[in-house]
Amino acid sequence: MPPFDEYQQKIIKDPAKLSFEFVPQSLVHRDKEMQRLFSIFRQTVEGNMSQRAFLTGNVGTGKSVLSKRFCIDFKEWANEKNKGLEFVVVNCRARNTAASVLLKIIDHFDKGFPDRGFSTTEMLEILRKHIDKKNVNLIVVLDEINVLIKRSGTDLLYALSRFDEENMGGEHRLSLLLISQRPIYEFLDPATLSTFKRTNTIQFENYDKQQLWDILRDRVELALYPGTIEDETVELIADISSEWGDARFGIELLENSGMMASEENSEMIAPDHIRSAKAMTHSVITESIMTPLSDHKLLALLGISMAIRSKAYITTSEAEKAYAIASEEFEQTPRAHTRFWEYLKELDGHGLLSLRISGKGHVGKTTLISLPDIPSTVLADKVRSLLKSRGLG
Ligand SMILES: Nc1ncnc2c1ncn2[C@@H]1O[C@H](COP(=O)(O)OP(=O)(O)O)[C@@H](O)[C@H]1O
Ligand SMILES: [Mg+2]
Repeated sequence: MPPFDEYQQKIIKDPAKLSFEFVPQSLVHRDKEMQRLFSIFRQTVEGNMSQRAFLTGNVGTGKSVLSKRFCIDFKEWANEKNKGLEFVVVNCRARNTAASVLLKIIDHFDKGFPDRGFSTTEMLEILRKHIDKKNVNLIVVLDEINVLIKRSGTDLLYALSRFDEENMGGEHRLSLLLISQRPIYEFLDPATLSTFKRTNTIQFENYDKQQLWDILRDRVELALYPGTIEDETVELIADISSEWGDARFGIELLENSGMMASEENSEMIAPDHIRSAKAMTHSVITESIMTPLSDHKLLALLGISMAIRSKAYITTSEAEKAYAIASEEFEQTPRAHTRFWEYLKELDGHGLLSLRISGKGHVGKTTLISLPDIPSTVLADKVRSLLKSRGLG
């Protein structure tokens, strides 16, 4: 028997909560966007008007998850008012032809619908019959719409946007929620763009560090066993992912570092697991940056990478002591305090460490040093071998 049953997962309690498909009950820091979307779409229920909205923003800003949360909650709201409302979410990266998008929409009403043999015009008519028969308003979410347009042009989008105009009774039935990273005018031709000019755009801004911290904190509670990560370590993830404002990257770091910690039989996710997870995702090339550095700058870096091992941050005075220890290891006399500061600033400039002024949780203001790009043990090994190759130690 393979020993699989002995491999324990002591960190991640519920992996599904870390998947990108998971839709949390509530989304932090997206109230404004949610409210805006509701005020656009409420007319579909209250006034029987079809609507269109367009969500745009960088990767990991919550566009996809917000569109799903909105549809689920909006359907419930409409049903409470005794209005039929259905929605279908199509990812156009997976379905990038008109036929495959329409198939997915029709499949929502008729699970057994054959996957070939009908033209798009016929499929649009079939869809219309389903909507009429069920007497519902339909919201079609086309996520990553730019991929569909690039691959198959704007015909389907145009047809869907005019869907209601062909209804004899003048009823409005089909609303569109379009999503893409880039603004709509960058990929629509002027003719189609003019049909979309009354589309409401909601811009999703990048998350800042604090917002990412809140998102990650919620996810930790949902997905991890209690007590398996410290706040300080979550802060490190927020710090790293705030470089791009990307919640997706933060959640990925959380998941990968959790798996690493578990494989090492650790009880907790340590800052170094985060650094390894990041190095795994973004392999960082340090050699070319480190080779030109002076011996003493390397010694400062070595000291810091040793001192920071089990921590997220160290203070500059801790770093200076560590620099003295590293100097001793290589039989060098450490340079004066002011020189050490210059080293820190230069290493910061190279992205080998990062300096920031402490916030809450520290008395007074001190400068904190973190090592966001590479596991401290890997870094220490690299610096040591470089110093040895120079004949030191
Ligand atoms: N405000 C938020 N609250 C909770 N989780 C969020 C929030 N924004 C994004 N996420 C999570 O971050 C990840 C990326 O979000 P996603 O909607 O896929 O981003 P986008 O579609 O803009 O690239 C998903 O796992 C999502 O659940
Ligand atoms: Mg998305």
